[in-house]
Amino acid sequence: MNEGEKLLRWYDANRRDLPWRREPTPYHVWLSEIMLQQTRVEAVITYYKRFTQALPDTAALAAAPEEQYLKLWEGLGYYSRVRNMHKAAGIVMEQYGGALPDTAAQLRTLPGIGEYTSAAIASIAFGEKIAAVDGNLLRIFARRTAYQQNIKTKQALAAAQAYYMERMGERPGDFNQALMDLGAQICAPHRMPDCAACPWREGCISCAQGRQTDFPVMPAKAARKVEEKTVLLIRGIGTAAIRRRPARGLLAGMYEFPNLPGHLSAKEALRAAAQMGVTGLRIRRLPEAKHIFTHREWHMIGYEIMADPLALPEEGMIFVSTRQLREHYALPSAFAAYAAFLEEDIDADRENL
Ligand code: ADE
Repeated sequence: MNEGEKLLRWYDANRRDLPWRREPTPYHVWLSEIMLQQTRVEAVITYYKRFTQALPDTAALAAAPEEQYLKLWEGLGYYSRVRNMHKAAGIVMEQYGGALPDTAAQLRTLPGIGEYTSAAIASIAFGEKIAAVDGNLLRIFARRTAYQQNIKTKQALAAAQAYYMERMGERPGDFNQALMDLGAQICAPHRMPDCAACPWREGCISCAQGRQTDFPVMPAKAARKVEEKTVLLIRGIGTAAIRRRPARGLLAGMYEFPNLPGHLSAKEALRAAAQMGVTGLRIRRLPEAKHIFTHREWHMIGYEIMADPLALPEEGMIFVSTRQLREHYALPSAFAAYAAFLEEDIDADRENL
C-alpha cells in the first residue's frame, strides 16, 4: 500500500463527522472553507448550521441584506470574509448562472478566495487534483521531511505542494481533508504528536529522530500593538447607545459602543459623553477588558453612564434595547465584556416575573 492509500484508509476509519461533509455541495464547501480560514472547526460548526439554515444557497446569500449576513457572522471575526463572500455570490449569480466555477484557477478570481481556499473547494467539491496546503499540511510536511527553513515562505509552500502532489491518488478532496484531520487530531501544533496512532509514521524523519516539536520552523513573531480605549456604556431607559463603525478599516461597518482612545477618568468620560450630546446623570466604573486581534490588542476600561432621557445624542448614535442589540445589530466580540452588563438586566427582569 502506498502512502496515499494508507492515509485514505486511516481517514475512512477516523474522519470527523462535520456538517459540511454530509452534503458537500459547492456552496456548503465554499462557506465552510471561508468560515474555517481563521476559526477552529469546533467554533465554526454552530455558525455554519445557522448560516446555511438562513441562507441555504448562493442565490440566497447574493440577495441577503448586509445586516443579515453580518449578524450571522457576529462573533466569528474577520468580517471581510463574509463581505467578500457576499460580493462573490453576486458575481456567481451574474456571470456564472448561479453555479460556482469548478476549477481552482477560476475560483481564485472571486473575492475572498485565495490559493488555499480555491484548492480546497476545487478538490473537495469538484475532485480537482490539487493540494490544499493550509497550516496543517505545512506542519505535517515540515515534520515528515524535517524541513529546516522558515515554513512561512513561498518556497516552503511550493515544496509542500510538490510533496503532496506526488502522494495524491484518485480522491483529492478526501486526501486533503485527511491531512487536515491528521493535523488536527494526531500531528497537532505546539505539542508532541501522537505518532503511535499516525498512518504516516513510517517515513517521517522528525519522528525517527525524536525531533517532532522542532518543526515547523517559524519566523519570529512581530509584537502586537497595544491600544488603550475607554468604552462608554451609555444607558437610556432599557436601552444602550451604539453607533456604526466606519465603512473601512478594522471591524468595518459593525456596530460598537461609543469609545475613545486612551484610559479616561470618570470626569473625562462624562465630558466626552457630553460632546456626543449625552448628559450623564450617574457614572459607574466597569471592569477592564482585553481583546486580542491578529496585529493589535485593545486594553479597555469602561464606564456605565446613565443618560438624561432628554439628551439629544449626536448624529449616528442610536439607543437600542438589549433585545434589539442582540437580535439585529452585529456587535464585535471585542465589546462582549461590556455587552454582558446589558444582559444582566434582562436576567434580573426575568427573575422578577
Ligand atoms: N479546515 C479547513 N477546511 C477543513 C475541512 N474541510 N475539514 C476539516 N478541517 C478543515
